[in-house]
Amino acid sequence: MSERLYIFDTTLRDGEQSPGATMNSAEKIRIATQLEELGVDIIEAGFPAASEGDFEAVSLVAKAVKNIQVAGLCRASKADIDKAWGAVKLAKNPRIHTFLATSPLHMKYKLQMSEEQVLERAVEAVRYAKQFTDNVEFSAEDGSRSDRDFLCKVFSAVIEAGATTLNLPDTVGYAVPHEFADLVRYVMKNTKDMNKAILSVHCHNDLGLATANTLAAIAAGARQAEVTINGIGERAGNTALEEVVMALHTRPGLAPVKTGIDTTRICPTSSLVSMITGMIVQPNKAVVGANAFAHESGIHQDGVLKNPMTYEIMNPELVGLSKNNLVIGKHSGRAALRSKLEEMGYQLSDEELKKVFVKFKALADKKKDILDADIEALVNEDIMRGGEYYSLDYLHVGCGTTVTPVAHVKMKIEGESVSGFGDGNGPIDAAFNAITKVTGEKPELLRFTVSALTGGTDAQGEVTVRVKDGEFISLGKGADPDIVTASAKAYINGLNRLNHLKKNPVNKESF
Ligand code: KIV
Ligand code: ZN
Repeated sequence: MSERLYIFDTTLRDGEQSPGATMNSAEKIRIATQLEELGVDIIEAGFPAASEGDFEAVSLVAKAVKNIQVAGLCRASKADIDKAWGAVKLAKNPRIHTFLATSPLHMKYKLQMSEEQVLERAVEAVRYAKQFTDNVEFSAEDGSRSDRDFLCKVFSAVIEAGATTLNLPDTVGYAVPHEFADLVRYVMKNTKDMNKAILSVHCHNDLGLATANTLAAIAAGARQAEVTINGIGERAGNTALEEVVMALHTRPGLAPVKTGIDTTRICPTSSLVSMITGMIVQPNKAVVGANAFAHESGIHQDGVLKNPMTYEIMNPELVGLSKNNLVIGKHSGRAALRSKLEEMGYQLSDEELKKVFVKFKALADKKKDILDADIEALVNEDIMRGGEYYSLDYLHVGCGTTVTPVAHVKMKIEGESVSGFGDGNGPIDAAFNAITKVTGEKPELLRFTVSALTGGTDAQGEVTVRVKDGEFISLGKGADPDIVTASAKAYINGLNRLNHLKKNPVNKESF
């Protein structure tokens, strides 16, 4: 008999801790809605005590999702717990997730607390949280480097105080699978009343072992996996949702568990998160990378044509890649676009479809074959992102071998039309300088990359920028068949994110 494995998604919290991956409230709501459709059980929407912006985003997500649980992270202090509860309380099923470190290293140097003090604080925090809700999770930060018996003592005490989920994090990505599985078994055996709570794991990927550690823990008895889409997260990231879910699906013998994930929504969710956070998915990324189902070698192609199972362990349609990549063109109508979008896992409102259709027609005038990646970029860029401060209305650039490149931009700043000119040593430099004239913003450009979304000389270019202003760093993304326009869109997206970050600085003391 299969048991339920709860999928706890922390893309909006640990995922947002990836450098530059900050999201505004509208973007968080978009991702949360998509995660609900994907079928996750719990969304960790943020860390409400970290900033006003985080508090607001968590409360908006709590109100926006319909049925799934919404967790707010908090340290083991009354003030933090009050904030977390204040932000999640409007969710249909709210959860307070409080944490405290239990490893000798963290207790001595970071917390400067003794084992007794940590034990007391953990119990106090859970008891306090329990006044607000029955749904309380306790995380023993740096659990994998904690003394096993002390860990079990803390877990036993917090169960007695009312915790319903116990999370065992490999905070620094130090664990290896056989050791981690052994730790899970030890905790399950030596924690008093373990049957009253669910054991969860939360792994980081510093040694590239997050998924392996999570799977080993599930096989050993853990029944909640904390994951993020595309594995984004602090430093080298967290366990990738898509990897755990597809490993369990492809190798059902690993553990007798089932999840509530609709696997066909995995790829659309991956591209939405990538577009919103600006974090590019590496082409060879398992399950969701652009090359994950591409067969380059002639021998492999021949095998796949004869029987896909020769070289494909998963059916691409199972993760939401559509059967037919060559799609509609210039003459297709709105109904065809809607049906293509639905096949790709996007449910748009009539208003949203209307907007995408206009963009689609404009693109079809420039590009003959519109492929899935093109449609995805249109939807994500124009619909899935919300609440932009700056937007681009018009760009004209003059350049060539014998002239100084000059750009003319028309933009909206909070809905007000403005325009300006700029020149530069190339068309992109000129466009960026024109944007600077109009916005007055001149962040340092740390990174600029262009790639083609599809093959062909008429392919859309996808540009990613990394911009820095003082201590703030953000990523921006844009796509267009014209790479100068794509660059301007990416730069403006980077400015919008930088602006959001400056208005909602995260309290770095929180971590
Ligand atoms: O990595 C970690 O330990 C965490 C906890 C706050 C759960 O993110
Ligand atoms: Zn973490």
